[in-house]
Amino acid sequence: MIVLGIESSCDETGLALVDTETGLLSHALYSQIAMHQEYGGVVPELASRDHIRRALPLLEQVLREAHLDKNAIDAIAYTQGPGLAGALLVGASVACGLGLALDRPILGIHHLEGHLLSPLLTSNPPQFPFISLLVSGGHTQIMRVDRVGQYTLLGETLDDAAGEAFDKSAKLLGLSYPGGPAISRLAELGNPAVYTLPRPMLHSKDFNFSFSGLKTAVLTVVKNHVGELTEQDRANIARAFIDALVDVVVAKCCAAMRHTGLKRLVIAGGVGANTQLRAGLNTAAAKKRFSVYYPDLEFCTDNGAMIAFAGALRLKEDPGQARKDYSFNVRPKWALNGL
Ligand code: KG4
Ligand code: ZN
Repeated sequence: MIVLGIESSCDETGLALVDTETGLLSHALYSQIAMHQEYGGVVPELASRDHIRRALPLLEQVLREAHLDKNAIDAIAYTQGPGLAGALLVGASVACGLGLALDRPILGIHHLEGHLLSPLLTSNPPQFPFISLLVSGGHTQIMRVDRVGQYTLLGETLDDAAGEAFDKSAKLLGLSYPGGPAISRLAELGNPAVYTLPRPMLHSKDFNFSFSGLKTAVLTVVKNHVGELTEQDRANIARAFIDALVDVVVAKCCAAMRHTGLKRLVIAGGVGANTQLRAGLNTAAAKKRFSVYYPDLEFCTDNGAMIAFAGALRLKEDPGQARKDYSFNVRPKWALNGL
């Protein structure tokens, strides 16, 4: 069965084709980052309009690369939520329009389920059950994953997401959107001994996070600094921010592994691309004797492959999940453990 996946929940238009038997056939992505950069963040209306411009050319591209005609598509999976309402509506309407035109069923996918299952797209996928750390621009969650569709939330952020903390702290240091990769590069040059920032909820004895205070701590250091910040000052602050965030995330993951007794930790979401976080998790895993799995770098941030793949896994379990009801019921707010 060939499944087309469509991702349009935020500022990336992603399309992909997955064969339920052989895996990923082709995928294509258009990132709107450059367009949103001058505003310092995603402008929802601009995002929606750009998804409209990109979706069909990307569809033609993935079909061409897979050497397939559109009639070869058996089902269409699209991101139904959570995300920006207008942006989600574009993906949903393309899915509905194509479904209706080709007389194929469609299936709404939870964006976070896409991220959660994206590490299974690699050549060495983890076996179920595993603990998943989902660290993206909008979410930070630790989940127990027993199989496709069975997700138990162990803990999550009480305020800002990890990616949001990266982006906001980067902005305070004068870096452009999205700040995650930029602050990470800057931190490489920083001296870890100059600043120490708080590790929020490190000892809270649960699996929850809080990052808004960490961002405020960055703001306080920047404000209290006497004179202009030099490049080295900014690098030192970046380093202190990342060290604090990584310490907390690694500690919570280790606690979840200990609590559940599971031996596989699977990372997903844009912040999963972060070098310092990967180094921290790898060191902890070697020490505590568990394995860590990461998605390929290109599948950490938003993409269509993870949506097509989640759709394929779901349809493989139960083809009846797809429907020929072409109503646009997107869900901008949608809890994953409510699936
Ligand atoms: O998963 P994602 O593409 O979108 C959401 O669903 O939110 O994650 C985007 C987030 C942004 O906050 C971005 O700054 C962050 O992931 N990010 C990174 C890195 N690459 C992307 N954060 C830290 N280090 C990175 N290398
Ligand atoms: Zn995402």
